[in-house]
Amino acid sequence: MAEAKTLLRALAGETLPTPPIWIMRQAGRYLPEYRETRAQAGDFLSLCYNSDLATEVTLQPIRRYGFDAAILFADILLVPQALGADLWFVTGEGPRLSTITRQAEFDALKPAAEIHETLSPIYQTVRNLSGELPGDVALIGFAGAPWTVATYMIAGQGTPDQGPAHALKDENRPLFEALLERLTEATIEYLSAQIDAGAECVKLFDSWAGSLQGADFEAYATAPARRIIAELKSRHDNVPVIAFPRQAGAAYTGFHAATGADCVALDESVTPEWAAANVQVNGCVQGNLANTHMVTGGEALVTETRRIVEAFSGGPHVFNLGHGITPDADPDNVQRMIDAVRGG
Ligand code: CP3
Repeated sequence: MAEAKTLLRALAGETLPTPPIWIMRQAGRYLPEYRETRAQAGDFLSLCYNSDLATEVTLQPIRRYGFDAAILFADILLVPQALGADLWFVTGEGPRLSTITRQAEFDALKPAAEIHETLSPIYQTVRNLSGELPGDVALIGFAGAPWTVATYMIAGQGTPDQGPAHALKDENRPLFEALLERLTEATIEYLSAQIDAGAECVKLFDSWAGSLQGADFEAYATAPARRIIAELKSRHDNVPVIAFPRQAGAAYTGFHAATGADCVALDESVTPEWAAANVQVNGCVQGNLANTHMVTGGEALVTETRRIVEAFSGGPHVFNLGHGITPDADPDNVQRMIDAVRGG
């Protein structure tokens, strides 16, 4: 039998001599080949729904760098679109959606079971990739966590403090909770279909988890993740799951046990030494180099990369950035980081 892929070994709890490495947004605008394919597709959403071109951009960073894992090229906001929300991207600004702040807008959304028609090109991308990826590269599927996706659906765009979502939570909790419930069901459906199509593990992106405090963090970040993970694991033979409650801070401690996640992804606001002592003791961790090093490079990039590898060397670890690589990153710095991880 072929040796298991390094990403899957780390997610299973194995301490490896060299951590597997991939980076968030590895297929993205910092790469000239991505910009070229995106231009060919016309715009970002057309690229997401074009299975052949989405397959191509997913493979680009694998060819260029030899990462240990590929992440499906898609977006967390395709789920609201599949539920019936309008979605478009404004160049230089980001996503825009029709808003959900009133009962009638919520009532117009489709049931979770009806998302698959819109999302079928995404499942085709997953099938393409599972046939085309090199044998040692793992395929990661993903979705946004319900809270993070809800923040965009409620505000109709990205917000610095998720203010509109907090306001709806406080002013109309039944409607807010109904939206989270619909998103929880849709996320289970979506990830389950990705796994059926060939995703070997999945990642749940809760990019705005850090703005939930106390009981809200438990109710709207931890509880939905626990339910999604339990359901996926029961349907798909214990499939490994990476959870990313970004900016969770002290709440990273115990997140493995509270949700059943195999791996907890860390942003750069926690030190690797703290996270090794408080989070990695409970299971695999992923992270957590500041993405700014991909812009600034230099000796600090190498020093910080080595520090993270060293701090997490006593347990299961997947090397990654603390957040997605930005369009202004230098592709050469990505290679320097990989060399530093792999002992160069
Ligand atoms: O990581 C990968 O390479 C896989 C693909 C992926 C994308 N988005 C492609 C993308 C993944 C995993 C995401 C997740 C995502 N999308 C998140 C969670 C992770 C995070 O960054 O916090 C969020 C919040 C979104 C929503 C979203 N998509 C925003 C706010 C934006 C605009 C900001 C920006 O960077 O332009 C996007 C657009 C987006 N998603 C791009 C890519 C490659 C850039 C689009 C382009 O080519 O113009």
